[in-house]
Amino acid sequence: MDMKIALIYFSPTNNTANMAKYIKEKLANLDKNMLVDEFNITSHSKRQQNLEIDQYDAFFFGFPIYAWRAPKLARAWLQTLDGRNKKCSVFFTYGGVDPGAAHYNIKHILEEQGFQLVSTAEFVCKHTYNCGGWNVMKNRPNRSDFNIADEYIKKTYKKFLSEDNESVHIENPKISERILLRLEQDIKKVLKPPSRKGEECSICRLCEIDCPANAMDSELGDADSNLCIRCYRCFINCPDKILKIEDLYPIYLLFEKVERLGVDESTIFSNFFI
Ligand SMILES: Cc1cc2nc3c(=O)[nH]c(=O)nc-3n(C[C@H](O)[C@H](O)[C@H](O)COP(=O)(O)O)c2cc1C
Repeated sequence: MDMKIALIYFSPTNNTANMAKYIKEKLANLDKNMLVDEFNITSHSKRQQNLEIDQYDAFFFGFPIYAWRAPKLARAWLQTLDGRNKKCSVFFTYGGVDPGAAHYNIKHILEEQGFQLVSTAEFVCKHTYNCGGWNVMKNRPNRSDFNIADEYIKKTYKKFLSEDNESVHIENPKISERILLRLEQDIKKVLKPPSRKGEECSICRLCEIDCPANAMDSELGDADSNLCIRCYRCFINCPDKILKIEDLYPIYLLFEKVERLGVDESTIFSNFFI
């Protein structure tokens, strides 16, 4: 019987969505009869829909890395699934700064939900905050990132097909939950949500409909600061270009002291574990 794969991704600013589309294309080249169903679970409403786990043989999940893990909303969505011992793989896109505990944490979550994780990958992509004055990994992904993706896709597909039921081994990066939570909270403390600042717009409502966190009120042109995850999806996609964010360069200078910012792009590589 032909294999049926679900390719599911959360991608506020499309880096992960583009990588998902690349994976879909490459899977089709590996096996013309394979069925791949794509699910974009970025917006709040899409995550309320039911996923028919039983319909699929295996799963690819794609997430950006936010504060060293998959975004909290994506983690919460995964925790609603019943994996039924199905094989899966996770690919991350990230701004080349630090993958932190992303791989280890997602393995823990997926195994708790009853999935069998066969591989994980991290792909270097331009940083979301380049839209506000950063200049991090601005030419990524490049050819060598896609070459690594090709290997990852081929080997993962082979593992999906094989009788071998061994899960991927991920080293414990030994980062405490307290530190991870603080990082997540710090982003909300230092960055303000996008806002229209009272200016008029066409009220197309895209910012509200597409918001991953159900945080934006298109009539007011403001987001609920507690709910907003600072993904800047609304700012980047606004057809009227009316939403505003702060200059993020001072934040860059703040983080530059503690994170891998400002390094030469050619020294940071995509990677996968299998
Ligand atoms: C709130 C937030 C937190 C982020 N945290 C990290 C991080 O910890 N490490 C990193 O390298 N990149 C980080 N990034 C950059 C994104 O992971 C990267 O740009 C990703 O490819 C965006 O994916 P998307 O376009 O699918 O939304 C962060 C971006 C945002 C918006």
